Amino acid sequence: MAVPDRIVTNSDLEKMVDTSDAWIRERTGMAERRLSDEHTAASDLALPASRDALRAAGLTPEDLDAVLVATISGDYVFPATACVLQHKLGAPNAMAFDLSAACTGYIYGLSVAQAYIESGRYRNILLVGVDMLTKVVDWTDRNTCVLFGDGAGATVIQPREEAGVLDTVLGSDGSAAELLYQPCGGTRIPISHEAIENKKHYLYMNGREIYKYAVREMVQCCRRVLERCGRSIGEVDLIIPHQANNRILEAVAQRLEVPMDRVFINIEKYANTSAATIPIALHEALQQGRLREGSLTLFVSFGGGLTWGASLVQF
Ligand code: ACO
Repeated sequence: MAVPDRIVTNSDLEKMVDTSDAWIRERTGMAERRLSDEHTAASDLALPASRDALRAAGLTPEDLDAVLVATISGDYVFPATACVLQHKLGAPNAMAFDLSAACTGYIYGLSVAQAYIESGRYRNILLVGVDMLTKVVDWTDRNTCVLFGDGAGATVIQPREEAGVLDTVLGSDGSAAELLYQPCGGTRIPISHEAIENKKHYLYMNGREIYKYAVREMVQCCRRVLERCGRSIGEVDLIIPHQANNRILEAVAQRLEVPMDRVFINIEKYANTSAATIPIALHEALQQGRLREGSLTLFVSFGGGLTWGASLVQF
């Protein structure tokens, strides 16, 4: 994983917008987040995380067949950040592309990697989740600017005889696309002085509406993936969820009847890093010894699109 050095606390935010440490902690569980500087783009965070992942897997960049980057805040609108990363890593044998599923990007990416591996097409896939939504939020809008942080998490996905990614369930609902989006910069509203004057280049989110969807769909896709694998929630050693809001996680855990000590949470340190939350949480769970050989883990996420998904993974 990689995060910028600069820490911004809730108290720092109190000086920028009309908010309070108490509101942010109570409503979200967040205490601080990391902010990148003006010179740092998504690939700059993805690079050190990817190098560490390759080292941990005992691979060199030349071994990579594919570089997949899940992001909605890449270096450029195009080309793909995955191509920038492929070049920086020096991975001449890898194809590269980005995928856009907002906070669910890592799980969508995992399902793509799983399909490539199962088909036998590729053997060594670098899968990165990276986002820098602090660069696209309106820093005068307290509804959004307090919620996000920057970060990257990288994993290497390879075939194995047994266990691994057991199954993944994904879903989407584009009718609610405008609950969380960046209106300007695409072909719907190209960049113009007028669009910028109307603040259309910033991230817009209807948090209250998303909240309702998030709890319902996260619970449902956890149940579906468990059912497809013939496993019960009681067998899951650790849930590694997307970190958007502590209260969402408590509501999901309550409905699934899972105690909170089996839900990994690090939202207090990094806030919502979008596609990076799950691989960052995975890294920290491994570091803290909360996963070992054989552990059954449930990844679950929800985000813009709208998109959602859950993966059951046996280590
Ligand atoms: N500080 C103080 N007050 C605030 C702040 C703030 N930073 N932000 C909002 N408020 C106020 C609102 O203005 C509102 O005031 P009002 O009642 O006078 O209108 C009040 O607090 C309550 O606002 P709500 O929006 O109802 O607050 P809620 O409890 O729903 O929490 C939150 C907001 C944290 C955004 C929550 O709705 C949430 O987490 N939603 C889901 C977000 C999510 O999962 N997004 C998807 C993933 S992100 C991705 O895909 C990139």
